[in-house]
Amino acid sequence: MSRHRVVSHERIEGVFWVTQPDGTKKLATINLALGRSVYGEKILQFKGREYRLWDPYRSKLAAAIHRGLDSVPLWRGEKVLYLGAASGTTASHISDIIGLEGRIYCVEFSQRVMRELMGHVAAYRPNIIPILADARKPEDYRMTVERVDLIYCDIAQPEQAKILADNSDIFLKDGGWIMLAIKASSIDATKAPSEIFRREIATLENRGFLGLRQISLEPYDKAHLMVVAQYRRRSREE
Ligand SMILES: C[S@@+](CC[C@H](N)C(=O)[O-])C[C@H]1O[C@@H](n2cnc3c(N)ncnc32)[C@H](O)[C@@H]1O
Repeated sequence: MSRHRVVSHERIEGVFWVTQPDGTKKLATINLALGRSVYGEKILQFKGREYRLWDPYRSKLAAAIHRGLDSVPLWRGEKVLYLGAASGTTASHISDIIGLEGRIYCVEFSQRVMRELMGHVAAYRPNIIPILADARKPEDYRMTVERVDLIYCDIAQPEQAKILADNSDIFLKDGGWIMLAIKASSIDATKAPSEIFRREIATLENRGFLGLRQISLEPYDKAHLMVVAQYRRRSREE
C-alpha cells in the first residue's frame, strides 16, 4: 500500500498535493506517459493512478503555485504555446494537466535541448508539438500553431515582454492568458531586479494586458518574478 496521501489542489484542476511519509507536501500531476519520469522526478501510485512529483526548484510554474498562485489559467483540453520549452521539465507537467484533448506547442531554439525534448519527452506525449524556432520570429511558425488559450514564456532573454506580446498578437485568443517568468539577471545584471520587473510589466500594460498579477519566486528562484495577465485583442484603430 502507498505510504503517500494524495488530494486535489484546492483551486487548480489537474494539480495535486502529495503528503509524503515524512509529512512534507509536494505538488504532483497525473502522469500522461505511464512509467516515464522526465527529469528524475519521483513517480508514485495512489488508488490506481500514477502521479509525478513536481519540483518547485526545477519548474517556475510549480514555484509560483507554492508561492500562492492559486488560479492557474490552465485547464484540460486547452491549447498552449510555450516559448522556451527547453528539455520539457515544466512543459511535461502542462502536458499532464491539459491531457490528450489539449495541445502544447513547444518553441525552443537550441538544437541540443530540442533533441532531448523530442526523444525523451515529446515521443511519449502526443499532445506535445516541438517547434525548433526562435521566439523572436513568430512568423516562422505561424503556419504550425493554432489560436491558443495560454502563452507561457520562459526564455530568459532581454525584451521578453515584447517577444511575448508579439506572439500574443498572432496566436492568443481575445481574453486568453499569459504567464511570463522574468529572470532579472538575464535582462540586465547591472540594474536592480525591481527596476527590470517594472519595465517588463510596463511593456505588458502598454500592449493590452490586464489584471496583472505578480508572484515572487523566492526562495525557489532568486530575483525571479512570475507575471500572470489576461489579453485583450486590440482593434486596428487603437
Ligand atoms: C530558463 S530555460 C527554460 C526552462 C523551461 N521553461 C522549464 O521550466 O522547463 C530558457 C530556454 O529558453 C530558450 N530560449 C532562449 N531564447 C529563446 C528564443 N529566442 N527562442 C526560443 N527559445 C529560446 C533557451 O534555449 C532555454 O532552453
